[in-house]
Formats: sequence, C-alpha cells, structure tokens
Amino acid sequence: MNIDTTVESALAEIAAADTEATLRDLEVGLLGKKGTITELTRLIGAAPPAERGPIGKAINVAKATVTQALEARKVALVQGAIARELADTTFDVSVPGARPDLGSFHPLTLVQERLEDIFTAMGFMVLDYGEVETDFMNFEALNIPKHHPARDMQDTFWTKDGHVLRTHTSPGQIRAMKQFAPPFRAAFPGKVFRNEALDASHEHTFHQLEGLFVDRVVSVAGLISTMKIMLSQVFEREVTVRLRPGYFPFVEPGFELDMQCLLCGGAGCRVCKHSGWVETLGCGLVHPNVLRHAGLDPAEWQAWAFGMGLSRLVMMRYGIDDIRHVLGGDLRFLQQFA
Ligand code: PHE
Repeated sequence: MNIDTTVESALAEIAAADTEATLRDLEVGLLGKKGTITELTRLIGAAPPAERGPIGKAINVAKATVTQALEARKVALVQGAIARELADTTFDVSVPGARPDLGSFHPLTLVQERLEDIFTAMGFMVLDYGEVETDFMNFEALNIPKHHPARDMQDTFWTKDGHVLRTHTSPGQIRAMKQFAPPFRAAFPGKVFRNEALDASHEHTFHQLEGLFVDRVVSVAGLISTMKIMLSQVFEREVTVRLRPGYFPFVEPGFELDMQCLLCGGAGCRVCKHSGWVETLGCGLVHPNVLRHAGLDPAEWQAWAFGMGLSRLVMMRYGIDDIRHVLGGDLRFLQQFA
C-alpha cells in the first residue's frame, strides 16, 4: 500500500465518474468502512512506532484530498445536468395560456340573492327551513285539513313514512311564528316539489320565496305596497301590478298579484301568454286558524304573507322567453351570467 499512488488513482477514478450514481458508488469504495482510503490506516499499525505519527498525518491529508475531489465532482455533475436541461428546453413566453372555465352563479341564485338583499333592507330576517315536512306543517296548520279539496291543488310527493316534500314554502310561516316572538318580518326562499307531469311550463322542482309580516295591526295596503316596492327593486324600474281575488286556504282575504309584462310592456308576448300580464305571486292576510295553529292569538296578532315562484322573475329580469332555458342546465345559456 502506498499513500501517494492510492490517492492518485482515486483522483483519476473521481475525474472519470460521469454520473451522480457512479460517484456515490465510488465514494463508498473509497471512504466507506472497507474503502481503499480507509484501509490505509492499517499502514499505521504496521509501521515502527517512530514513523506512525507522520504516516497518520499523511493519511489524514489523503482523506481530505479525496473528500474534496468527490465534493467538487458532485457539484460539477449537478451543474452539468442543469446546463444540459436548460439547453434542451425552450419556453415560448408568447404562447397564450389555457383559460380555465370559471363557474358562475345560476340566474335563479342571482335573483334569489337580490330578493334577500331587498327584504333584509326592509327589516326582514332571511330564514332557511327544511325541504322534507310533516303533513301538519305543509297542510293541516295552513288550514288545509285531510280530505280538503285544496290538497288537490298541489300534487304531493309523499315519503314512505308519511312525510311530504314541501309543496310550497308556506310551512315556513308556521315554523317562523313558533320560533320567533311577534312582531317580526321574515322571508324564506327555497326549493319546493310537486308531483306534476313535466311539460314546457311545469317542473317537479322549483324555487319559491315566501314572506311573512306579523304585527298587532297589518293591512292589505301595506302588503300590496311592499310587493310593489319589492318588484320595482328587483327590476330596477317602476312595475305596474294588479290584484285579483285568489283562493288559498291559509289567507283571508287572498289575492293573486299580477305584474305588467316587462318583455312586451303589456302588448302581449309568449311569456305573458299574450295577455300583457304575468301571474307573479299569491298573497293575503294570514287566516286566524293559521295564527292559532302557530300559537298566536288572532285577537292580538295579525299577519300578511305572500309566496312567489322565482323562475318567472328570472325570465322577466333577463328577458328569457322559454322556461326550459332557466332549468335546462345548458352551459351555453348559463355562461352568459358569468
Ligand atoms: N303557497 C302558495 C302557493 O304555493 C302561495 C301563497 C303564499 C299564497 C302565501 C298566499 C300566501 O301557491
């Protein structure tokens, strides 16, 4: 074993290593437990005591030299790899990027949020009640007893255990009156379900917004002016409304409120079925039986309520003349609202 020649050949091998993997193996072969450089320490034991010190020093120098050479070669190999990668790859910074498709709110959501803002500004709470209801909340408490012909006005989906998918948002009236002490105002938007044959103007699932105003004294005048203000704010222009008597068991008197068609200005078109008017909502003074079912004394408290479908409003607001566009889920249609 000779220190100088061992170091010399180690340096030559290091210089020849052309990958990081080769270099790692080489490092083990030189400096590992049984590595060539490590083994040099055996020279110390074999030498006469007087020479051991200088030999030890020489071995340390040899180790340091080899370690440094390994380190330098490693850096050179890594730098070389990076340089090659850069030389092989070209980036065209002028190529336009891929534009990701962005989601957007559905027009129904836009109109619902707008209504929520309008009612919040008028001092209404916005409440959210469940879609599965009891027979009591959806019918009984709303003055629609079993076998009442009014049950046929709204074809109902029943669950196996006798619950209903709410056919309107009106059960929220009972829930709100049980939940909050009067006087209060509340609006509850949500999905409702009716077991109807699908056609151009009927869906089994649609969106309503219900409103309830409870106070010591309320009036039809207050109800109608609130409806007119609400519609004028939704459409950002003066809206003309008209009132017809309407039958709903849970209000007395009850009304159907129509608004003049905004698409044709009342001249007649597809959306208003050529009448110039669009049925917009049902409303009225809450029936004393309903107040009683909700735990309020009709001698002390009065209320008005309304319930309104949202798809008709969406059509008016965005000038859509076919309801199937509103619920069809066609992306080309929906992207217009992005
Ligand atoms: N619940 C009725 C419907 O779905 C609408 C309505 C609500 C009518 C409140 C009067 C008062 O048709």
